[in-house]
Amino acid sequence: MSSPKQSAKLAMLLLVALLLLCNSTVGNVCCSRNQENSVDLHALLDFQRGITKDPQGALSNWSTTTHFCRWNGIACTTTRPFRVEQLNLPGLNLQGKITSSLGNLTFLYLLDLSYNSFAGTFPILNHAQQLQYLFVNNNSLTGIIPDALSNCSSLLSMDFSLNLLVGAFPPKIGFPPSLIYINFESNQLDGSIPNEIGQLQNLESLVLGDNRLSGCIPADILNAGTRGYDCRF
Ligand SMILES: *[C@@H]1O[C@H](CO)[C@@H](O)[C@H](O)[C@H]1NC(C)=O
Ligand SMILES: *[C@@H]1O[C@H](CO)[C@@H](O)[C@H](O)[C@H]1NC(C)=O
Ligand SMILES: *[C@@H]1O[C@H](CO)[C@@H](O)[C@H](O)[C@H]1NC(C)=O
Ligand SMILES: *[C@@H]1O[C@H](CO)[C@@H](O)[C@H](O)[C@H]1NC(C)=O
Repeated sequence: MSSPKQSAKLAMLLLVALLLLCNSTVGNVCCSRNQENSVDLHALLDFQRGITKDPQGALSNWSTTTHFCRWNGIACTTTRPFRVEQLNLPGLNLQGKITSSLGNLTFLYLLDLSYNSFAGTFPILNHAQQLQYLFVNNNSLTGIIPDALSNCSSLLSMDFSLNLLVGAFPPKIGFPPSLIYINFESNQLDGSIPNEIGQLQNLESLVLGDNRLSGCIPADILNAGTRGYDCRF
């Protein structure tokens, strides 16, 4: 037979057990949040490792003692889980490679690395489905036009001008149909402009001057029916 005192003790134990259970559930929620955060953290740290020269110390406060949302050039969502929305590091004389880890920043909508000295090929950004603005103009990027850009399905504006890209446009343009602005001016592109580019219904501006392009302006572009069409060669 249990005395009221024992019952109270049992109830207390149950309460403690419940609290522990709740606590561990809360803990798990926290964990998954932290994991989300740590994907961004690791992506940024990997990007940082790709930078070989930072003469102005632009990344000097990119240190794990501070939350990455407060690092120079980073803007995050204003609510939890804090995710990177912008990576804004133009004109800082940065040298190195742009790493594909940036593709893990699934909330990123603006990537501005323009006016630096990034070399190598532009990486595949596999999960950057929110990316709208991609500015890598005036660097030293080499290789061909990355067809992996087709995976950036929200892209509105991309500027690859003043780089060292070679080769032809991909024969079957894989650019996302959301694109409004495309700039590949001052590269070393050759071949002709594929007709498929006219299928980008939202395109307002296509800047391709100072390349080695040949052939005609595809009829599809001329017929695209976009008002104020700005096609410069
Ligand atoms: C990191 O540097 C940037 C630019 O200098 C500055 O705006 C930001 O407040 C710094 N962050 C911290 C945590 O000091
Ligand atoms: C992206 O994040 C995953 C972990 O979620 C990691 O395994 C993978 O290596 C990362 N990709 C890149 C390119 O850094
Ligand atoms: C490209 O950037 C370099 C500095 O990195 C600058 O000297 C040059 O004027 C820029 N070119 C253009 C056309 O803006
Ligand atoms: C696009 O993303 C999917 C899924 O992440 C991947 O399998 C595919 O290879 C990517 N395409 C390109 C061109 O990178």
